[in-house]
Amino acid sequence: MKAACYETTGPAAEVLRLIDLPDPEPGAGEVRVRLQWSGVNPSDVKSRAGLRNKAMPFARVVPHSDGAGVIDRVGAGVDASRVGEPVWVWNAAWGRPNGTAAQYVTVPARQAVRLPDGVPPEAGACFGIPALTALHAVQGWGGVEGRTVLVAGGAGAVGHYAVQFARLLGARRVLATVSSEPKARLAREAGAHDVIDYRRDDVAVRVRELTAGQGIDRIVEVDAAANGRLDAELLAPHGELVLYGSGAAEFSLPFFPMILRNATVRCFIVYQLADADRTEAERTLQRLLTERRLVHQIAERLPLSRIVQAHELVESGRAVGNVVLSTEG
Ligand SMILES: NC(=O)c1ccc[n+]([C@@H]2O[C@H](COP(=O)([O-])OP(=O)(O)OC[C@H]3O[C@@H](n4cnc5c(N)ncnc54)[C@H](OP(=O)(O)O)[C@@H]3O)[C@@H](O)[C@H]2O)c1
Repeated sequence: MKAACYETTGPAAEVLRLIDLPDPEPGAGEVRVRLQWSGVNPSDVKSRAGLRNKAMPFARVVPHSDGAGVIDRVGAGVDASRVGEPVWVWNAAWGRPNGTAAQYVTVPARQAVRLPDGVPPEAGACFGIPALTALHAVQGWGGVEGRTVLVAGGAGAVGHYAVQFARLLGARRVLATVSSEPKARLAREAGAHDVIDYRRDDVAVRVRELTAGQGIDRIVEVDAAANGRLDAELLAPHGELVLYGSGAAEFSLPFFPMILRNATVRCFIVYQLADADRTEAERTLQRLLTERRLVHQIAERLPLSRIVQAHELVESGRAVGNVVLSTEG
């Protein structure tokens, strides 16, 4: 099969290359997926760049955890009726050497989830990381029904889903921050009641106005280092700050605004969701997909052969939505 891989961490153009590998065989309890799309996430790009750890976790890595395709083989112990099932996959490259930047991937059967009818397969390559992160940030810890939610970066791959989930799961009011008018439009179309341009407007003043001084019950935060201090001031009493991203390795939060509000800080990484949380998130996602309630914001579709460009695009922060690679042909 054709695949993309790297054998040392470093810049995309220097370390990523296309190779031919033997088609993988599913082991016991696994399925093999003939991939159609591979999703590129900031996490894949950071791992390849060696930002978290310069050392390689395996001698060779085929990157990307998200993907979509069709099950074409099953290993021992897996129901053979799954052959032919359209699926999206999660955690394909988490703790595993061979991710979805290839024509085939094998994963434990549980990590290949049926793609409901009518969902475009390229969207399926955006669920494992962006959609499930957004869903857990919104639905976790009792959810947001009747609550006021602020999604920082409401046009981002995660943020755009988070705005939709907040609306669909009953938030009373959904605010989003963005940095441009096109992004404001996307966040509004996703369901945000109010959109604030964080580069132009005074976010604290706007939030006070828009919530009549009540503040925000749950903030879904993309950049803890940039916004943590401000977030502490925006929270309502007993508010929750849900941190899923940070632009810097360290950040600080001001103690007094947090303690005076009895605020809660929650951090999570989607790769390591507890089983019960993952099951709950998957169930909600499948329901909303089946009901055709979600909009999928694909920023760029590229062939696998242009993986370097795809990584550079994600790295630049210029992509508005998800970047996906076609693995067919
Ligand atoms: N914890 C997890 O499991 C998890 C899962 C997925 C992603 N992440 C992390 O979350 C981050 C975002 O991922 P993504 O895939 O959504 O990336 P993305 O598609 O690039 O979206 C990031 C969004 O945040 C906006 N943004 C950047 N700085 C901001 C700031 N200071 N205030 C408000 N908005 C800001 C960006 O737009 P502007 O720059 O135009 O404002 C962009 O719309 C990455 O760091 C990623 O590694 C973590």
